[in-house]
Amino acid sequence: MYDSGKIIAGLIIFAALFTSPVWYDVLNGKALQRPDLVLPSKENQKECVAAAEFMRRDHMRLLNDWRYEVVRKGETYFSSDNGKEYEMRFTKTCLGCHPNTSQFCDQCHSYVGVTPYCWDCHNKPRNLSIQ
Ligand code: HEC
Ligand code: HEC
Ligand code: HEC
Repeated sequence: MYDSGKIIAGLIIFAALFTSPVWYDVLNGKALQRPDLVLPSKENQKECVAAAEFMRRDHMRLLNDWRYEVVRKGETYFSSDNGKEYEMRFTKTCLGCHPNTSQFCDQCHSYVGVTPYCWDCHNKPRNLSIQ
């Protein structure tokens, strides 16, 4: 009749091959690697414009709001919950504290596979023509 030994061996080989991409990543540490972020270290840059938890989730919405407030409504300052006011400037304010975009923004974005188009127009801090 059936050769159960062969069937079981076949199933084991199938399972191993089928899941091998996962094994490969786990064994190489890839699946477990989180983005490696370089955070601001200067004394006056210790806090973000909003709580880190909020920023992690909602920074893209905040940026949209800032753009709308500045470009459509002519507002200039954002009042943070920490009582401080920040100029609503993408390059000057955000990238002023997070100048090394490749070790910050890009770390997460390549991890999740998004490519914001902001830098088609806004310059990175090295060259501040549109702040
Ligand atoms: C005054 C300095 C400063 C400014 C301005 C600033 N940040 Fe931050 N940002 C920080 C610091 C410090 C942290 C880490 C806070 C923490 O871990 O508690 C942070 C955290 C973040 C995080 C979360 C990172 C993580 O740990 O997951 C994001 C996203 C972020 N900032 C984006 C922005 C954006 C977008 C802007 C502009 C709208 C901005 N930041 C403006 C200092 C700043
Ligand atoms: C802690 C990780 C993290 C950091 C740090 C981070 N981002 Fe993001 N960002 C994300 C994730 C995740 C998304 C995608 C969210 C989605 O698809 O809904 C995103 C999306 C965006 C988007 C919307 C893009 C789109 O195509 O929808 C913009 C704009 C953006 N980020 C700007 C920035 C800027 C500028 C910085 C650096 C100052 C930054 N982010 C830092 C995680 C991060
Ligand atoms: C097609 C070119 C272009 C692209 C792409 C672009 N911007 Fe802008 N953005 C501008 C211009 C021009 C202004 C007005 C500058 C001014 O009035 O000082 C502006 C203003 C802003 C402002 C408010 C003022 C300032 O100087 O920062 C924010 C915030 C902003 N953009 C964020 C973003 C973000 C986030 C992205 C990507 C999701 C983005 N922009 C993509 C051209 C662009």
